[in-house]
Amino acid sequence: MKAIVVTDQAAGTAGMKLVERPQPNGEGANYGDVVVQVYASALTGDELSWPSTWVDRLGRDRTPSIPGHELAGVVTALSYGTTGLSVGQRVFGLTDWTRDGTLAEYVSVEARNLAPLPGDVDFTVGAAIVMPGLTAWQGLFEHGRLRAGQTVLVHGAAGIVGSMAVQLAREAGAYVIGTGRADGRQAALDFGAQEFVDLENDVLEDAGGVDLVFDVLGGDIAKRSADLIRSGGTLVTITGPTEARPAYGQTIDFVVVPDRAQLIEVVQRVREGRIRANIGTIATLDDAVATYNSAGRAKGKTVIRVRP
Ligand SMILES: NC(=O)c1ccc[n+]([C@@H]2O[C@H](COP(=O)([O-])OP(=O)(O)OC[C@H]3O[C@@H](n4cnc5c(N)ncnc54)[C@H](OP(=O)(O)O)[C@@H]3O)[C@@H](O)[C@H]2O)c1
Repeated sequence: MKAIVVTDQAAGTAGMKLVERPQPNGEGANYGDVVVQVYASALTGDELSWPSTWVDRLGRDRTPSIPGHELAGVVTALSYGTTGLSVGQRVFGLTDWTRDGTLAEYVSVEARNLAPLPGDVDFTVGAAIVMPGLTAWQGLFEHGRLRAGQTVLVHGAAGIVGSMAVQLAREAGAYVIGTGRADGRQAALDFGAQEFVDLENDVLEDAGGVDLVFDVLGGDIAKRSADLIRSGGTLVTITGPTEARPAYGQTIDFVVVPDRAQLIEVVQRVREGRIRANIGTIATLDDAVATYNSAGRAKGKTVIRVRP
């Protein structure tokens, strides 16, 4: 099968190569795995800098490794121990960080990481909502305990994760303040933010008291945001451990995990037109390496359409 591999951590996306790799076919597959023919795939921003791209769970070198852990596709084989899926079923989900990923024509993945993809949701949209959908859901509702009527400040509100957090928070009945750069204002408002703070020209502290901060930026902005949080509120960040702490609240940093039930919640909202994917560029697998290495910062999710 065709797949993109990486072998050199220092090279970043410049080290990506399109090569032929053995195709997983289900024989000898791990307990609970299914094989999926990938129709659409996506890469998470800084995945190539994570240890899991380079070593397995026992710390052994696993290069050449196939990056990309978001996918939408069709199940082609089931191993012993799989639950809830069948051959021929459309699925989408997040694959294990320490195994070969989805920038390939086929991938072996634990069935429990996947959810059914309804027939009226395009594979491209399915792949695009996996990571932002799960990350926003977990940050807002699991870790942030957001409830209707509360106020949430979402950093990077025009970005991939931020725009999903804005939409899900609005949908849940929260009051949403988005932040970002000046050129992100209109996009953030279009996704549903009721106010926007331009972090380069406005004063963040003018946003006033909030119940939850959903942080995707970290650093000094996260620290300053902690002071906006009301007593009992939460700062949730996806940028790693932080010293930012609200005086009378809590800070939670987390890394997204696969969750079938949450994927079903997210895709149902997409079907009903209540939320939408934030897709920037769509490219083929043949063009993927050039796309990831093209000049200029991509806005929105880059989705690789593996099977036209
Ligand atoms: N822990 C987890 O589970 C997890 C999951 C997913 C993502 N992440 C991480 O979360 C971060 C965001 O991911 P993403 O995919 O949402 O990225 P993204 O699409 O680039 O979103 C970031 C947004 O914030 C804006 N921004 C960046 N720096 C800014 C600054 N200094 N001031 C104002 N606005 C700024 C960006 O604007 P511009 O486009 O103009 O720069 C963009 O709108 C990444 O570091 C990613 O690795 C973590």
